Amino acid sequence: MKYSYISHLSCPKCNKTYDHQEPQQLCTCGSPLLVNYNLDELGKYVSRDSFVGRTASLWRYHEILPVVNEKDVVTLGEGMTPLLPMPVIGDEMDIPNLYMKDEGIIPTGTFKARGAAVGVSKAKELGVTELAMPTNGNAGAAWSLYAARAGIKSTIIMPVDAPKITRNESAISGSNLYLVDGLISDAGKIVAEAVQDFVLFDASTLKEPYRIEGKKTMGLEIAEQLNWNMPDVILYPTGGGVGIIGIYKALTELKQLGWVEGELPRLVAVQAEGCAPIVKAWKEGKAESEFWSDSETVAFGINVPKALGDFLVLEALYQTKGCAIAIEDQSLLQEQKRIAELEGAFICPEGAATFVAARRLRESGWIKQDDVVVALNTGMGIKYPDTVDVEVEVLQKGEILRK
Ligand SMILES: Cc1ncc(COP(=O)(O)O)c(C=O)c1O
Ligand SMILES: [Zn+2]
Repeated sequence: MKYSYISHLSCPKCNKTYDHQEPQQLCTCGSPLLVNYNLDELGKYVSRDSFVGRTASLWRYHEILPVVNEKDVVTLGEGMTPLLPMPVIGDEMDIPNLYMKDEGIIPTGTFKARGAAVGVSKAKELGVTELAMPTNGNAGAAWSLYAARAGIKSTIIMPVDAPKITRNESAISGSNLYLVDGLISDAGKIVAEAVQDFVLFDASTLKEPYRIEGKKTMGLEIAEQLNWNMPDVILYPTGGGVGIIGIYKALTELKQLGWVEGELPRLVAVQAEGCAPIVKAWKEGKAESEFWSDSETVAFGINVPKALGDFLVLEALYQTKGCAIAIEDQSLLQEQKRIAELEGAFICPEGAATFVAARRLRESGWIKQDDVVVALNTGMGIKYPDTVDVEVEVLQKGEILRK
């Protein structure tokens, strides 16, 4: 029995294959690469029951992850986040089976820990000593901390407007941190030059194949947490789209293994009204998106004007009969407050957008009353303290409270 049943990498555009035992970036045709596993062989040795009693981290699924040697696993205990019922807000929305997959409960406070754990582990296994990446903040924070744990040097470039705490997380890990007066796309151009000039491993979104594998574990966990049943709908706040691509890949692999049955959940890409290239492309029935100029939103993680894997996100939506929907900042901030008031959860603005989307899609009838619905909260609200307006009265010492 092997630790991993990885077989090779392949290009979803031109089908060219690559060796997973060498560091790989994009296909020669420019497409991201996907990881393939020998699922037939895996299925002979591993069953759904194998997971009972295993460690409560994403590494419980190591056979279907790309790290070949257990000694190369770099972990801070990430994964197996709660799948929480949301009865009060669900009742208000008329979705009785509403759940939140809460990625706030994970090292570094966002789901980016998953991609970083698996991406950094595989980079370590392949002998990478130095990596670079552009980020909207959370990924840079996670990758620099996991890289530090792996003894890998990191260069991180993020917009000056990225959440300040992510800047601190990167800085304290000892990474070479730079800010750019622009968007993630501007940071990406600088990284693209730097990797050529200084021979760094390019860990940009989807330019290395393993981040998807880390994020795919959200899909594996949702299925296991629902006793190997799939929900009817999964809503995901979509920026670069890695999470939604990963969840789609996970559920497809589970189906191939025969561990889940039935239709895949309808996947919903939730974007911000100020940056909605995937929504526009989906509405127009296109296979790829166009660059979204002057993008702006408080939900910083989903401010991605053009995603390299847009065609994979759109394919996941079309294949699952899903949809894409854009939410205004004002509405997602209201929802963020409502969820804290009604459910006691302080979630991130990106996560809050998925709840507004659920509310709207129920109102339009696209979500049915008996659907099992999972909204992804991709991070904890306390990473974005500035999105909350607080007015608090200051008392004098010894002052008495009046009702
Ligand atoms: C909190 C949060 N949610 C969602 C996203 C979007 O992630 P993806 O690239 O998987 O679409 C990000 C990316 O930065 C993020 O930080
Ligand atoms: Zn190709």
